[in-house]
Amino acid sequence: MKIYNKFYRQYFLTKMYCYNALYKTLLLAVISVLAACGGGKNNATTTSSQSSSEAPMDMSGGQAYEEADGIVGGQLYSKFWASETGFTLGNSNLDNQGQLDAVTGKSDFFRCKQCHGWDRLGRDGGYSNRAPSTSRPNVADINLALVSEVATPRAIFDSIKGSANSRSVDVDLSNYDPNNNAATGDQMPAYGEILTDEQIWDIVKYLKEEALDTTAIYDIVLENGQYPNRPRSFQNLGVNGSPTSGDAIYTNNCAMCHGVDGTKILVDGESYTVGRHMRYKPYEDQHKVKFGHLGSTMGPILKDSDIDDIQDLFAAMNDVTKYPDEQPAPEPVVDGKTLFTLHCSDCHSGNGVGASTFGDVSNQSAARITSEIGSVPLMQSLSSLTSEEINLIADFLSN
Ligand code: HEC
Ligand code: HEC
Ligand code: HEC
Repeated sequence: MKIYNKFYRQYFLTKMYCYNALYKTLLLAVISVLAACGGGKNNATTTSSQSSSEAPMDMSGGQAYEEADGIVGGQLYSKFWASETGFTLGNSNLDNQGQLDAVTGKSDFFRCKQCHGWDRLGRDGGYSNRAPSTSRPNVADINLALVSEVATPRAIFDSIKGSANSRSVDVDLSNYDPNNNAATGDQMPAYGEILTDEQIWDIVKYLKEEALDTTAIYDIVLENGQYPNRPRSFQNLGVNGSPTSGDAIYTNNCAMCHGVDGTKILVDGESYTVGRHMRYKPYEDQHKVKFGHLGSTMGPILKDSDIDDIQDLFAAMNDVTKYPDEQPAPEPVVDGKTLFTLHCSDCHSGNGVGASTFGDVSNQSAARITSEIGSVPLMQSLSSLTSEEINLIADFLSN
């Protein structure tokens, strides 16, 4: 079992940075040795500190990156052809409708989130147990969240655009089979054939700036085992967020559609309340509350929120009383007429209902009914009625 959380991530990142630094140091050492040997210059005592003389990586990204929209990028990452992203055949690098049909017909082979996960953690994230099938590829075995953090915008852009390793949009995927014909289908598509440079920059911006660091939102617990036979669960929802602030965020941004307790509509195939979904699929919902649930009325609601707000919202979702797993049973319909018909009409008529075997009791008061229940032997069994129910019956009788 492994718990992937912010501490583990920090350890990982440090390791990665060290690798980079070590690699560069070695490279510089080799270069200076070569220079020293080849040039024969007498400068052995003047070598400066190698780490401080390194040229810093260009993290700026340039103008196209600056102008990109990371929220649209997050939507492109989810499903680039969704109407919310502004993607159309005309506004793309695709050549014709046939190619677009091929993409949408094999959607999981083209959605970034299928191969890299909503959390960008690939097989070490929420998709640790999402098995491939003839209609969807294997989840990728790389941690795109870490890559996004350490790589330059330009390097990420180039990776998305395509390389010798990527799959052309024209590849026929109809014979994909995870057991014996997976290699090509599992390859990253060459997005340069599909998306414009602007669209790719939007995605780069998403990856570097707008995507949420899920290790700050919850801990994922990965059981022992190999993808895709590797169960996972989620703990520590919201980490140190404030549930009180989270309640306010929910009330102001979600309750109008989902009801005060998240049970008004059942979501995701009509099987989840909001609370249950947020607890069971936080890796997916952290994306959706910020970038929207494409194809529904739920837009990028929390797009301007910072990670603290998202933590607060998830912290609030720990409360299963406020945000229950189930829709409450519908309130039983209790009205005076129903109660009279059920409990009295065999013996009395009243307000035009029932048989008057023991008289018509129209316009009798609640006090009178109560006292009769206490004194008439045949009415003794009615002592279990509440005063509220007797009031409803009296109201009906007086109409
Ligand atoms: C069919 C599966 C698949 C899809 C869809 C996919 N990828 Fe990938 N991606 C991979 C695999 C596998 C790798 C690692 C091997 C490689 O570099 O080709 C990868 C590598 C990457 C890398 C480079 C990581 C590195 O180590 O430098 C980036 C960046 C990336 N993907 C982003 C994306 C984005 C953004 C999308 C959607 C626009 C996307 N991927 C869609 C499978 C996929
Ligand atoms: C304008 C209305 C609206 C607002 C506001 C809204 N939602 Fe939704 N939400 C929807 C609709 C519609 C769906 C899709 C229901 C379905 O499954 O058919 C949905 C789906 C969801 C889902 C399920 C996602 C999935 O993968 O199926 C979750 C979780 C959710 N909303 C949480 C929230 C939270 C939390 C907020 C506030 C931050 C919020 N919603 C705000 C309308 C809204
Ligand atoms: C099993 C038969 C039975 C049922 C059921 C019953 N009652 Fe009665 N009720 C009686 C009898 C017997 C009397 C006494 C009649 C009499 O003295 O003439 C009585 C008397 C009353 C009286 C006094 C009538 C009067 O004119 O003084 C009221 C009021 C009354 N019942 C209301 C109710 C109401 C309301 C219910 C249902 C919650 C109810 N009863 C259910 C048998 C029943």
